[in-house]
Amino acid sequence: MYRFIRTAALASLLASASSALAATPLELHPTPEVDLPVGDDVAFPNGSGSDVIASNCTACHSADHTLNQPALSREEWHTVVDKMINAYKAPITSEDARVIVDYLARIKGEP
Ligand code: HEC
Repeated sequence: MYRFIRTAALASLLASASSALAATPLELHPTPEVDLPVGDDVAFPNGSGSDVIASNCTACHSADHTLNQPALSREEWHTVVDKMINAYKAPITSEDARVIVDYLARIKGEP
């Protein structure tokens, strides 16, 4: 008897839950404009190597992502570029990597 009451209570709970769901139809409202902070409109400042960094370092994230880093030493930029190549498999030649490290050390190097 006790089990019957429990089953009946559960059944009525499920019934009311499903009718509550049915009573609220899903409505999706498209958002007309969303401003994501991607920084896609920011470019690497012109200078020797800017074309090389632009073509090698914007496939996976924006230039802004690199430019927003704190100033780093040449050695630290070297480590970042190596990480992009080794950990994230960025297809960058060693010649381009050298140009990119030079460029970053010049525009975002330690003062
Ligand atoms: C194959 C994809 C890919 C390419 C190409 C790439 N990156 Fe990255 N980068 C990533 C990922 C993944 C992260 C880590 C996630 C994040 O921070 O958004 C990252 C993060 C960074 C960071 C943040 C600091 C850090 O160490 O995580 C810097 C700076 C950076 N990349 C610079 C560069 C530079 C400079 C180049 C060109 C030499 C480059 N990236 C090319 C994938 C890439």
